[in-house]
Amino acid sequence: MVARFVPLLKIKRRGVVWLRVALGTLLSGAACAASVTTTSNAGGDDPEVELARWSPGLEATSPSCWQEGELDAACLRTRYEHVPRQWPAPDMDEAERWLEWGPIPGPGSDAQHEAAQDASNKQIVALGARLFFDKRLSRRQQISCASCHQPDKSFSDGKALAIGEDGLMGKRRTPPLFAAPFAKDLFWDGRVQTLQDQVLGPIENPVEMNHALRDLIVRLRTLDDYPQAFQQAFGPAWNAGVDAQGLARALAAYVVTLRPAATRFDDFLAGNVAALNDQELTGLHLFRTKARCMNCHNGPLLTDNRFHNIGLSFYGRRLQDLGRFEWSRDPADLGLFRTPSLRNVARAGPWMHNGLFPSLEGVVRMYDAGMIPDAGQAGPLIPRKSPRIRKLNLSEAEIQALLAFLQVL
Ligand code: HEC
Ligand code: HEC
Repeated sequence: MVARFVPLLKIKRRGVVWLRVALGTLLSGAACAASVTTTSNAGGDDPEVELARWSPGLEATSPSCWQEGELDAACLRTRYEHVPRQWPAPDMDEAERWLEWGPIPGPGSDAQHEAAQDASNKQIVALGARLFFDKRLSRRQQISCASCHQPDKSFSDGKALAIGEDGLMGKRRTPPLFAAPFAKDLFWDGRVQTLQDQVLGPIENPVEMNHALRDLIVRLRTLDDYPQAFQQAFGPAWNAGVDAQGLARALAAYVVTLRPAATRFDDFLAGNVAALNDQELTGLHLFRTKARCMNCHNGPLLTDNRFHNIGLSFYGRRLQDLGRFEWSRDPADLGLFRTPSLRNVARAGPWMHNGLFPSLEGVVRMYDAGMIPDAGQAGPLIPRKSPRIRKLNLSEAEIQALLAFLQVL
């Protein structure tokens, strides 16, 4: 039942870039004059990609739908009539590799192969779900994974910073979990690679569940029918009963099955252009063009699952968080955070790694302003914003359209 998902990877040039960096354009233009297809191996490190043929005439001849400084919704409707591969290509920065939006892949096509394999076993997933919602996993039995990762809040918790057992505060906001099955590097800063390694972390973390794993395993062996459930899930050859490895596998298998709730955006992706109203459709087009969002929020989950500095590291200030640099100590990682998925984003606030924004409108206005300026000092250890973050000069109507679009995701 798993639809095979074939993302489309395109390289596209904007007219301005063509003029400005003629050499770069010539080189990469030559590279993509031939249409290249690479096929993934069965494990699927790289998705099957198609480098679309670069057509210099395309932009000049296709209508832009701009009329007297405004987007014409009726025109947009004709251009977005079909499925994503037939849509107008978005405006991407030079030689940017990107994945088109599309239906959300089922289990098996994710970056987390082992967890996905376990997820094909219903008993392992059921055990994982049970553990995920069980408060007895925390030392004082106060909180479960689901206390922070709440299903009706996109598996986030509505708080700016996570609050663990005994009310202790974490340093970052609880992220939604929809991108996790598709990420090769987990957490806001990418410090862990597999879900199995990741899921045991919060159990022992003193500001989360605060429970030594050894003690938890001893407790689980005495609770309800957990020993039988572990045995059933992992089969007759499983001699360990309740142990840390089984716990990690079951939780990871459950997490890998999580998908955003279907919305009108899914209908639109399936080719039903009437699923979005004019304002939402305008917002969608701005997202892919003038507002530059598509540069990072691309692919089926609206995240490239890569790391960018969008200017929220608060260098030298109280809230300072240098993201990926905090563990890698590589100056190139200063202020880098993983792009979050935007599916079901309206339910996930407050937004960003530090929950800084209580409203999506605040987020959009901040992007419009080009985010917070970098620190004035020069030097290799000062975080710098991604060149993709620029002042956007959106009109009030355009800001409202983008917001309307974010609401339907
Ligand atoms: C106290 C709140 C809290 C609890 C309890 C909690 N988490 Fe989290 N979770 C977080 C925070 C905060 C992060 C992000 C931390 C960071 O990036 O530095 C996170 C990150 C994650 C991620 C990574 C998501 C991604 O896309 O990178 C997964 C998966 C996850 N948690 C699963 C779990 C599981 C499974 C449990 C239960 C064993 C659990 N969490 C318990 C707050 C919590
Ligand atoms: C340079 C890449 C990049 C671009 C361009 C970009 N984003 Fe983001 N976006 C990110 C990253 C990275 C984060 C997380 C940053 C953090 O928490 O510090 C983020 C976070 C967000 C969030 C918060 C999601 C959450 O769950 O907290 C929203 C909403 C969002 N972006 C919308 C947009 C919109 C709308 C645009 C276009 C106006 C846009 N983004 C452009 C990379 C980008």
